[in-house]
Amino acid sequence: MAIIDTKIMDLRSEIVGVDQLVPLLDGSQDTYVNLDNAASTPPFKIVQEKVDEVFKWYSSVHRGAGFKSLLSTQLFEEAREIVLDFVGADEDHDVIIFSRNTSEALNLLAKRFPFQPGDMVLTTGMEHHSNDLPWRARAEVLHAGILPDGSLDMQDFQDKLEKNAKNIRLVAVTGASNVSGYMPPIYDIAEMAHKHGAVVSVDCAQLLPHRKVDMLPPDSPRHLDFIQFAAHKVYAPLGSGGLVGPRDFFNRGEPDYRGGGTVEIVTLDEVMWTSSPEKDEAGSPNVIGAVALAASLKFLSQVGMDTIAAHEAELTSYTLEKLTSMSGIKVFGSTDPSRAQDRVGAIPFHVEGVQHGLVAAILGFEGGIGVRDGCFCAHPYILRLLNISDVEYAQFHERVKHRNRADLPGLIRMSFGCYSNFADVDRLVNMLECIISGNFNGHYEVHKPSGSYFPNGYDPTSVRKHFSI
Ligand code: ALA
Repeated sequence: MAIIDTKIMDLRSEIVGVDQLVPLLDGSQDTYVNLDNAASTPPFKIVQEKVDEVFKWYSSVHRGAGFKSLLSTQLFEEAREIVLDFVGADEDHDVIIFSRNTSEALNLLAKRFPFQPGDMVLTTGMEHHSNDLPWRARAEVLHAGILPDGSLDMQDFQDKLEKNAKNIRLVAVTGASNVSGYMPPIYDIAEMAHKHGAVVSVDCAQLLPHRKVDMLPPDSPRHLDFIQFAAHKVYAPLGSGGLVGPRDFFNRGEPDYRGGGTVEIVTLDEVMWTSSPEKDEAGSPNVIGAVALAASLKFLSQVGMDTIAAHEAELTSYTLEKLTSMSGIKVFGSTDPSRAQDRVGAIPFHVEGVQHGLVAAILGFEGGIGVRDGCFCAHPYILRLLNISDVEYAQFHERVKHRNRADLPGLIRMSFGCYSNFADVDRLVNMLECIISGNFNGHYEVHKPSGSYFPNGYDPTSVRKHFSI
């Protein structure tokens, strides 16, 4: 059996709420097993402590002359330095623009990119909607194909890039799929994009928590020009995220979002914009969120991203071995336990003959296990993985139009954080065995507008007795 690194064992105790009891359908309680880390991670204790401490010092930034304002301003700038350092950015060349999350960072870049009529963006068929829809609003978007195992069809990618090199201005690719954990070869992609005169943007929302992200020096042909990420996926869920890219790029053009802090001087007739990054950070920034993100990244650096990657690969390998040997479970994407180090630990699967929404509900209500089910904001990728035909798609489309999301195609996804352990996997596997053998107690019904399953008579507000504002 796998050896658990002692550092990682310690890490479990660094997570807020890791031993939290939650109520089960039979009236008992059990420790919550969070296997939905690809959606959001719980906070590190160090983040909670730093945030608690900084509240005492918190004040307005950049405008106030008082001591607390001076300190808050410095903390905000220190957070920039820590984040840039963590992603291997060159501080003379790159800036970080703090955002609310990855989606906002991607939308900002799409709006700020000086697309001209006829320009194209090359992306892939595995993207989260946030790395697809913002581009569709601004340029013609080409999607590189996906192979049956969920990996990127690099031949198709290269063909599309070469054939449209004159028009492709930007290549936008995920660093790791939020559905299958597949990691496209981002540095090869960057080199190919640069060779054909395009810049590359990497959505690092799913990569940053699991691997060392290194933008590489700006003069490297493999340099990542733009990256985006969110703090709630790296153990600091306080509403911040970031877009990193060249200072010169953001100094050009006009900000998308205008207001306080974005200008040098304004008259009734004229506006002189300030320089980057402030130019793209209108309004009072989320200082606490930036401090939380930086505190978390500092801590992750101390633990070491390689240590985390090795631990998560062991867990992924163990899980794949278990799931692929269970009859009644089909795993999607790569199923090879020996290649676990080549992906991040998000594993999509289904239970034959049981709706994904029902499986997720039973895991939650009877197992105290949190997973996500559905299409994970990556509909084109799920349709491809499930081989949904155009005719089937048309039927689903019609149902959704009538607010009926019951039993739409989808999968169940379990996803690891750095603190996950083998016992978490065993709890999941035991519950899945119960589901496969019909050994569960609740009677569930589907809520058609959402497609979610709930036990009969379930009152959604009942959870408030455990915590309310
Ligand atoms: N994009 C996040 C997920 O995959 C929310 O769950």
